[in-house]
Amino acid sequence: MLILNEKDMRRSVTLSQVMDKVEDAYRIFASGAFYMPDRPSVMHEGNTLLYMPCFMESCFGTKFLTLFPGNPAKGLPYIDGLMLLNDAASGKTEAILDGSFLTALRTGAVGGVGMRCFTPLESSSVGVIGCGKQGFYQLLYACEARQIQNIYLYDAFPKDFESYIAALQRELGKNQPTIHVCDRVEDLLTASDIVVTTTTATSPVMPDDASLLRGKSFICIGSYKPEMRELPNAIWQLVDHVYTELPFAIEESGDLSQPLADGIITEARIRYIGDLLSEQQRPTPPSPGSTNYFKSVGMGLLDLNVAQLIYQAALQHGYGQNVNL
Ligand SMILES: NC(=O)c1ccc[n+]([C@@H]2O[C@H](COP(=O)([O-])OP(=O)(O)OC[C@H]3O[C@@H](n4cnc5c(N)ncnc54)[C@H](O)[C@@H]3O)[C@@H](O)[C@H]2O)c1
Repeated sequence: MLILNEKDMRRSVTLSQVMDKVEDAYRIFASGAFYMPDRPSVMHEGNTLLYMPCFMESCFGTKFLTLFPGNPAKGLPYIDGLMLLNDAASGKTEAILDGSFLTALRTGAVGGVGMRCFTPLESSSVGVIGCGKQGFYQLLYACEARQIQNIYLYDAFPKDFESYIAALQRELGKNQPTIHVCDRVEDLLTASDIVVTTTTATSPVMPDDASLLRGKSFICIGSYKPEMRELPNAIWQLVDHVYTELPFAIEESGDLSQPLADGIITEARIRYIGDLLSEQQRPTPPSPGSTNYFKSVGMGLLDLNVAQLIYQAALQHGYGQNVNL
């Protein structure tokens, strides 16, 4: 059995390969060639455990995540966990991967695929609202998906932006957009072509003002529970529909369930990215000045497809630790 830590996982694959694999997972979803029960989420004393099993023809696996809201204040990551990857024929566990890093790597790629599909080619600036772990990886993929020249950062809570920016600069290597910290979310909205939300918020993270949202492409990552919300209702004045991943997202995310319950939208305005990607290799990017909206809640199929890519690449390169239990 191979144990893959963050370093081995990161050096096994490129960001572009991970985005391709995420696109591939969306096509598998549309084809129906998988089995993935709605993920059970267990709450205890304010903390959440997520169990995300999924079966494909060639392998199956389970991602286990812990989400502890009190962790960031203690300097610990909000999300921790493991991914088990199993052989489809025998059930044998072939690999254990760092589930927290897998989450960030594949969720960043989900945002990157959202940017490939739903942001104008000309987009040259990206803003992240919620500068935690997911926000960091969203920015790396944004710089892969589009020619980003300016990055804008906003967080509602005090942050060590100096080390966040230094870490971003290290990862971005030669590709060095200018990075700005915004004191107000309104400033980030005005300056950014692409707006990514990666918060744990329970109420919209920007004003309910269509004039601030018009002409932006929103990639919304954070809300995965009915009581969590990132986008205000004004978005629905500007877009015909939102693209998301799976019907369960409508139940899971307050960004979708709340406007539905309030009668602001009907389900007809919710579409699925897998349908789009199975019809076309990749859709023509929207035109400059359009307003666009992609909402991700994540799903085990994404983790499984990306974990399989990483495992196969690590085997090829001889990375990871072989362990006999
Ligand atoms: N869509 C997916 O597949 C997917 C995958 C992983 C995580 N997530 C979700 O993404 C969110 C972020 O996860 P993370 O690991 O980056 O957490 P994190 O704690 O590392 O980062 C969250 C950041 O958001 C900031 N924040 C909270 N409320 C805010 C507000 N109202 N306005 C601005 N900033 C605010 C926090 O200060 C923090 O810096 C979580 O809700 C998580 O469940 C979604």
